[in-house]
Amino acid sequence: MRGQQPKTIVISGGTDGMGRATALARLRRGDTVVAIGSNEAKGRVLAEEAGRTGAVGRLRFLRADLSSIAEVERVAADIAHHHPVIDALVFCANRQSPKRRETVDGLEFTFGLYYLSRYLLSRRLRPLMDASAAPVIISVAGVGNTAGAIHWDDLQLERRYSTIRAQLQAGRANDLLGVAFAQRAAGKAAYVMYHPGFTRSGDASMFNPLVRGILRLLARFAARPVETSIRPIVEFIDNPPRAALTAIDRGRPVDSALKTLDPGDADRLATLTEELLSQHTPQTPPHGR
Ligand SMILES: NC(=O)c1ccc[n+]([C@@H]2O[C@H](COP(=O)([O-])OP(=O)(O)OC[C@H]3O[C@@H](n4cnc5c(N)ncnc54)[C@H](OP(=O)(O)O)[C@@H]3O)[C@@H](O)[C@H]2O)c1
Repeated sequence: MRGQQPKTIVISGGTDGMGRATALARLRRGDTVVAIGSNEAKGRVLAEEAGRTGAVGRLRFLRADLSSIAEVERVAADIAHHHPVIDALVFCANRQSPKRRETVDGLEFTFGLYYLSRYLLSRRLRPLMDASAAPVIISVAGVGNTAGAIHWDDLQLERRYSTIRAQLQAGRANDLLGVAFAQRAAGKAAYVMYHPGFTRSGDASMFNPLVRGILRLLARFAARPVETSIRPIVEFIDNPPRAALTAIDRGRPVDSALKTLDPGDADRLATLTEELLSQHTPQTPPHGR
């Protein structure tokens, strides 16, 4: 533990890839980890591995489909019920969708999962984070990448959808979420946006065999090992920055003057998101619990 008190950490997308590796690294340091993922089997495997590393009782797996507003609300309430203090909130949940599909709330899936779940969790868990001495939120996405845009007139990508367009829009939305969180002083937590670079993780099972093969080949030669990519996440949890907002792209600070971090756009998206949430009665997914 290197002289640090054990912390309580919530990881959305904590059952695979970088979220899972972060969960195991923090469990090894003596922390308590709440790992959220949609796949029960992955949760079981993670719990078994936690048990082998001597972390029995310090890992809680919460099965939830975070693309659903009701499911996010349910896990937030569950976490608040069990944990009075959250020291770190790590956002890793994401999944690519080759075809446009809608969540139970009628939202475009990538927008719902990759962006809106982060928006909601950062707000709902705020009181628990404010109770920590040095809370930090780490959003693992693509800050510094200036490709893509927020399609203000077609936020749900009803007119033009592609996997990349949806991923880039939700990535840019996550950039603006960090800016809005800091500028609206939405809590005591330091907000870190972290771009890990191309990493040997990520579920590609939804793609056809050719795309999967190309991705696997690229990953073998060009991607970073998961353990390298998560190092800054693990360290940010130990030493949260003093600044309200930190943006790091593969170890390099990101210029806050980038157009993708525009405070006006951040405000606009936050207002739009609140409006959207106020118009939605969360729907319970068929398999939600
Ligand atoms: N890998 C890269 O090269 C790379 C590069 C830049 C940025 N990033 C970003 O880094 C983050 C982590 O990436 P990764 O490569 O570690 O991803 P990953 O290995 O695919 O893991 C994604 C996590 O999200 C969870 N998840 C997916 N759909 C979910 C749902 N509907 N509800 C709840 N949880 C869900 C998965 O758990 P279940 O399967 O249990 O649902 C899993 O734990 C992502 O935001 C990604 O965009 C990755």
